[in-house]
Amino acid sequence: MTSIRQRFYIRKKDFIHAGEATITLKNILKSMNFDPALIRRMAICGYEGEINVVMHGGDGILDLEIASDHLTLAISDNGPGIEDIELAMTEGFSTATDEHREMGFGAGMGLPNMRKNSDEFRIDSQKGVGTNVSMLFYLKSQGERP
Ligand SMILES: Nc1ncnc2c1ncn2[C@@H]1O[C@H](COP(=O)(O)OP(=O)(O)OP(=O)(O)O)[C@@H](O)[C@H]1O
Ligand SMILES: [Mg+2]
Repeated sequence: MTSIRQRFYIRKKDFIHAGEATITLKNILKSMNFDPALIRRMAICGYEGEINVVMHGGDGILDLEIASDHLTLAISDNGPGIEDIELAMTEGFSTATDEHREMGFGAGMGLPNMRKNSDEFRIDSQKGVGTNVSMLFYLKSQGERP
């Protein structure tokens, strides 16, 4: 089974370019005629993941994979990691700084929204090593493919 893969690089603290990978992946998915609702869910997940890498993580990568029956977004960074994943997944929990909040971030809703908008969600993190978030999106039928 062939699949398409596209890798995007994300730089820590690079708020200027944050979100650009998501814009590109949205355009790729649009050009392939995927369901707009699916593209929207993936864009929410991609954007929240990208911002988390920029804001909390280290340098990172976002991998998009398009297979015949599913799509995946895998976002990983080599930042400080998350000590308590359950706490980080709690709606409203945030370690965002005042500066981040002034930019409109820090509601503590990014990770919960990523879980909500993906069909399968997985987060692995190790303190001092980094964080990996992997999300899977099902393709309901071949009708959604070009
Ligand atoms: N890649 C990461 N590296 C280290 N810590 C992270 C990472 N992603 C999330 N976290 C931790 O998990 C917390 C919750 O993340 P979440 O995305 O839900 O909220 P937020 O980023 O703080 O605010 P929002 O996403 O609503 O702007 C963060 O405040 C941070 O402490
Ligand atoms: Mg966030």
